[in-house]
Amino acid sequence: MKVPLLDLTAQYKTIRWQVRSAIDRVCESQVFILGPEVTACERDIASFCGAGHAIGVSSGTDALLVALMAAGVAPGDEVITSPFTFFATAGVIARLGARPVFVDIEAENFNLDPDAIESRLTRRTKAILPVHLFGRCAAMEPILEIAAKHGLTVIEDAAQSIGARNSHGHAAGTIGDLGCFSFFPSKNLGAFGDAGMVVTQNAKLARACACYAFTAANRNITTSRSAVIFVSMRSRQPFCASSSAICPCGPPGDAKTPRVTASCSITAGSRPT
Ligand SMILES: Cc1ncc(COP(=O)(O)O)c(C=O)c1O
Repeated sequence: MKVPLLDLTAQYKTIRWQVRSAIDRVCESQVFILGPEVTACERDIASFCGAGHAIGVSSGTDALLVALMAAGVAPGDEVITSPFTFFATAGVIARLGARPVFVDIEAENFNLDPDAIESRLTRRTKAILPVHLFGRCAAMEPILEIAAKHGLTVIEDAAQSIGARNSHGHAAGTIGDLGCFSFFPSKNLGAFGDAGMVVTQNAKLARACACYAFTAANRNITTSRSAVIFVSMRSRQPFCASSSAICPCGPPGDAKTPRVTASCSITAGSRPT
C-alpha cells in the first residue's frame, strides 16, 4: 500500500467553499499584495497566540531573516542555534554574513540544551535562536535568563509550532523577543503556497520587521495566501476534529498539540509538521 507523505485533500474538502470564496474575494478586489485580507490575517494570528504585533512575510525563512535583521544581526556577529532543524534556521544567519554557532540538543525534546549555551558565548554573540521542533517547545526560561544576563536578543523559530504552548502555558513564538512562523502548506497551519509571519510584543521591533519585510525580504505575504490562512484559522475546529480522529495530535492551541510527532506527518489527513 502506498502511503503518501502528505495528503491535504481531506482537509481541503472540509473548507473548500470558504477557501474558494476567500480567493474570489481577492480576485474581485484586485488587491494582491497587502490590503485588508493581510491585516485581518495578521490580527487573527496575533490574537491567537497573544502577541501584540504580527507582520506577514512570504515564508518562514523570510520571517527568520526579517527577525534577525530587526535584532540588528550583522556581518561578523554570532548567533547561537540548534544543529537539529531545517536548514533555513542556520541558512538565514549565514545569509546576513553572521556565523551560526551550534549548541547541542536535549535528548528529551531534541531542542537547544540551555546548559550548553554559556560556554559557546563570545563577545560577538548577538542573539539566541532556539527552535521549537515538532510542536515541542524548547526550554525557554533558562534561555531567557542567559539572554538577559548577556544582553542578547531571543528569536524563536516556531515554524513548526504555531499553537503549541510550553509547560507554563506560554504560546510558542511569544516567549522570546521575536517569534517566527511558517505557513508552508504542510505545516500545522498551511497557506495557499509559501507564507510566514513574525510576532513580537515590542512595538519598536515590530516597526523594524515591517520595514525589512518590505525592503529586504523577497516580498510581503500575498493577499490570497493571507485569505486562505484566515479561513483555516476560523475553521480549525472541524478541521482538527477530523485530524485528531486519525492521529493523536490536537488542534492548534489544544493542550495535546505539543505531542505532534514526526510519525504523525505520514498519516493522510493529519496536519503534519
Ligand atoms: C524549523 C524550521 N524553520 C524554518 C523553516 C522555513 O520555513 P519556510 O519553508 O516557510 O520558509 C522550516 C520549514 O520547514 C522549519 O521546519
